[in-house]
Amino acid sequence: MGIEIRKIAISTGGGDCPGLNAVIRAVVRAADQKYGWEVVGIKDGLRGVSGDSTKLIPLSRHNVGGLIRQGGTILGTTNTGNPFSVVKKVDGKDVVHDMSDEVIENIRREKIDAVVGIGGDGTMAIMNELYKKGIPIVGVPKTIDNDLLSTDVTFGFDTAVSIATDALDRLQTTAQSHHRVMVLELMGRYAGWIALHSGIAGGAEVILIPEIPYDIDAVCRVVKRRMAREGFTIIVVAEGAKPMEGTVTTLGKKQGIVERLGGVGQKVAEEIEQLTGAEVRTTVLGHVQRGGSPTAYDRILSTRFGVEAVELIHNGQFGRMVALRGNDITSVTFEQAIEQLKFVDPDGQLVHTAEAMGVCLGR
Ligand code: F6P
Repeated sequence: MGIEIRKIAISTGGGDCPGLNAVIRAVVRAADQKYGWEVVGIKDGLRGVSGDSTKLIPLSRHNVGGLIRQGGTILGTTNTGNPFSVVKKVDGKDVVHDMSDEVIENIRREKIDAVVGIGGDGTMAIMNELYKKGIPIVGVPKTIDNDLLSTDVTFGFDTAVSIATDALDRLQTTAQSHHRVMVLELMGRYAGWIALHSGIAGGAEVILIPEIPYDIDAVCRVVKRRMAREGFTIIVVAEGAKPMEGTVTTLGKKQGIVERLGGVGQKVAEEIEQLTGAEVRTTVLGHVQRGGSPTAYDRILSTRFGVEAVELIHNGQFGRMVALRGNDITSVTFEQAIEQLKFVDPDGQLVHTAEAMGVCLGR
């Protein structure tokens, strides 16, 4: 058994994701129902406990009512809130400061006994550093990209796939009416899970993902054949997809410390138009994939994760992230959680399934 718990805090970090509020609700209700703990929410990632003021919201089972179906996060979030590297202007220059000691001091001053950090790989890495500095923390994995290796599924992914599949269904009818090629650009920075799953579910003819650099000639062969026979083509492109000889397409702007991706859909569309003469239109689904109500699957997964996070705290198992393995909820250390991302296996079963359906993966 670990320390005595009276009060816990919840923080949401990184990009938002459908199901964050459902996790908050589950943590608050389980903490109250099972152990009678007080719960507070930290505003805007760890920014809410940075500097000399703290921004905490008291959470009770009354103010988390209805949250299971609500998108976003009532706590707010940021992907530029790493307290270990806060950029400040000094004499007109950007200087990186380590503000983690203030964060730790504020958490202790507020008499917070343990923290639940909900986020992706970046957030887990930050949580791990705070844990190593003595803060009792447990993690809950989120990302629509589903690219965390230590959990079979992250909440938010199922919702994103449903939204993308619905978009493909809608593009199909207009593509067919106008005899066009429709390119749909989806999120998926390093991994093509959303594109692959929704591409299969939405009956796309071409699916381009970061893990399989594409050959534009292979794509154009499919387009020519489809336009001659069926008169329309649906193409899904993950934002991180890149050509065989080339690199990812960026918007030339930063997103935290990494480049913002975007534009590969339009790039592919222009090349197809030029090489095949077909009429092509591009849709970028963007943040629509991250907004709105979570699916039933994501609500259940979020609830299971939230309850398990409370159990980890109760058992004094800090420095761990909850995870789904098969049908069971389990946990891994933060170190294991951030070790590696989970990529689509170019020779795996799902890719082979798509190819067996005649889908072109750009090779
Ligand atoms: O990590 C999830 C993700 O949706 C990525 O696929 C995408 O590159 C990124 O978030 C976009 O983040 P932002 O909201 O900062 O534009």
